[in-house]
Amino acid sequence: MVKHFAVIGCPIAHSLSPVMHNAGYKALDLAADYQKFQVSPEDLGEAVLGLKALGFSGWNVTVPHKEAILPFLDELTEEARRAGAVNTVKVHKGRLIGHNTDGSGFVRSLQEHMELGEGKKIVLLGAGGAAKGIAMALAPFGVQLCIMNRTPERGAELLEKIREWGGQARQEVWGRGEWLTQADCVIQTTSLGLKKEDYPFSLEGIHPGTLVVDIIFNPWETPFLQSAKVLGCKIVNGMDMLLYQGVNAWEFWLEDKAPVDAMRKALYQALAQV
Ligand SMILES: NC(=O)c1ccc[n+]([C@@H]2O[C@H](COP(=O)([O-])OP(=O)(O)OC[C@H]3O[C@@H](n4cnc5c(N)ncnc54)[C@H](OP(=O)(O)O)[C@@H]3O)[C@@H](O)[C@H]2O)c1
Repeated sequence: MVKHFAVIGCPIAHSLSPVMHNAGYKALDLAADYQKFQVSPEDLGEAVLGLKALGFSGWNVTVPHKEAILPFLDELTEEARRAGAVNTVKVHKGRLIGHNTDGSGFVRSLQEHMELGEGKKIVLLGAGGAAKGIAMALAPFGVQLCIMNRTPERGAELLEKIREWGGQARQEVWGRGEWLTQADCVIQTTSLGLKKEDYPFSLEGIHPGTLVVDIIFNPWETPFLQSAKVLGCKIVNGMDMLLYQGVNAWEFWLEDKAPVDAMRKALYQALAQV
């Protein structure tokens, strides 16, 4: 029997998830398909019931539904509870299980470039939804997180949440500071750079070789990443975060290894055409 998967969001036209998952099914010759559906906020509850009634095995959830979907689900995994948000739903024995692979996907992509562990200093620029998922997934590794956000109140909320779950974190004023120069890794999670705008402060003083990540992948290299490259940092964009949240969702649904290379290739090809 063909298994059906999907992503729901609003807007959804830009989503590369169908390309990535369908390429994976093709690579493994699996009888499965993955579609995208635009669902407006007022229709979310009916859409969830509809997907379940139509026999979907699972679906991804994107902006603006990641928190709003919580009341419609039967169970949450530890990852979803930590993040307070769901990006993956699995239908298991008629029950809707909410899960989150945004943070774990990011961690998996980061681990290709650095070892995570006690004492590692990681600066997180931004404190929005993406930053929250990343911080809550990084905290259990015992890393020291430094939050810098334009709106300090939002940074403080994230700080409290990290500490509540036993993580180590502090907040610094938004802008260049001592922490930036001592970091093992700097992660840019704000939406600054989507329109190729310059970053409001420089990374001057950062050690050459420091890992600098921007979770934006379109443009491929934001001005922020370009300036880090000029300073001799190792740079990584957000493409593999997208890839691994999909890979982890696949593995949650199908309880088997995903064909990472085929999914990556499809994503890269699709992005080249955007
Ligand atoms: N690679 C991936 O798979 C992936 C996944 C998710 C998201 N993303 C990207 O991550 C970015 C953020 O997404 P999100 O869901 O976290 O958004 P969000 O919840 O709306 O948070 C936006 C963040 O950006 C900051 N910000 C916005 N404009 C700013 C400005 N002009 N100056 C300084 N800070 C500014 C906000 O700071 P304030 O609190 O001060 O407003 C906040 O920290 C987007 O670009 C999105 O495309 C990538």
